[in-house]
Amino acid sequence: MNVQWYPGHMAKTRRLIAERLRQVDAVCEILDARIPVSSRNPDVAELTAGKPRLIVLNRADQADPDVTAQWGDAFRADGYAVLSTDAKSGRGAGKFVSAVRGLLSGKLKAYAEKGQAGRVVRVMILGIPNVGKSTFINRVAGRNVAKAEDRPGVTRAGQWVPIGKQLELLDTPGILWPKFGDETVGLHLAFTGAVKDEILDTETLGCHFMAYMAAIAPERLQEAYKLAEIPPRDGAETDIGYGFRLLEAAGRKRGFLVSGGEIDTERMARILLDEYRAGKLGRLTLEAPE
Ligand code: G4P
Repeated sequence: MNVQWYPGHMAKTRRLIAERLRQVDAVCEILDARIPVSSRNPDVAELTAGKPRLIVLNRADQADPDVTAQWGDAFRADGYAVLSTDAKSGRGAGKFVSAVRGLLSGKLKAYAEKGQAGRVVRVMILGIPNVGKSTFINRVAGRNVAKAEDRPGVTRAGQWVPIGKQLELLDTPGILWPKFGDETVGLHLAFTGAVKDEILDTETLGCHFMAYMAAIAPERLQEAYKLAEIPPRDGAETDIGYGFRLLEAAGRKRGFLVSGGEIDTERMARILLDEYRAGKLGRLTLEAPE
């Protein structure tokens, strides 16, 4: 994923969404359950106000289930229907159709009363790149609906994907940018791989992630990298300084040495991030509801 977010891109996507919104009955926003704040596009809530809305907390397999349940409650309290899914295995995706029907029950009832019970319902799927939109759509469709860029000449962008006879999905028109702006958001997007190492070089990102893990889940670091202890942080030490020491300790344990006996902290950083993203540090949510 190598998308740059330029004002022109953003304006175009905003316009495309606004145009296509008129054609849909509901909007489904897909978020990363590990970072529901940072993976949320900052404009979608406003753009879609007035439409019945469903939030899908995807990647639930990688997130802490208790925190995912808390997020579900928080979004429901704000008036959203909520579904948590693991689009990769398909878990939860089977509930999508009934969740949409529940969300639109009033409208469906009105259709039925007018003798239009079979009328097609249309849902726009919105989400930032890499959150799992294609995987989710494929799961719900029960077949592979190729990604626009996967097959030359075949474009899914702007096309309706039929799900049975009464539901059609529309993938995000345009490319939706994540919620950049504050440093924590950028780091969380980078830790989870939503923006692949575009924000910082891998080693610096690894230092930040080490310092972060040492603060929120030291026992997982200790276990994963077989460290006798997590050394305490010196008062004045920065995240980068402290994280670097931890990268060295983990790298030493793994035997990642370069000539001269130094630790290959760059390699250790890459491994750390890969292992977190692959779920090897366990199910970990980085953002909890307030
Ligand atoms: P996008 O359309 O929103 O850009 O995302 P896409 O579906 O292409 O998914 C991006 C990556 O995330 C894919 O992995 C996909 O398998 C993975 N993914 C999607 N949903 C989930 C989920 O709920 N849980 C987990 N663990 N992973 C998910 P990839 O590495 O690009 O491909 P692959 O290795 O799966 O083939």
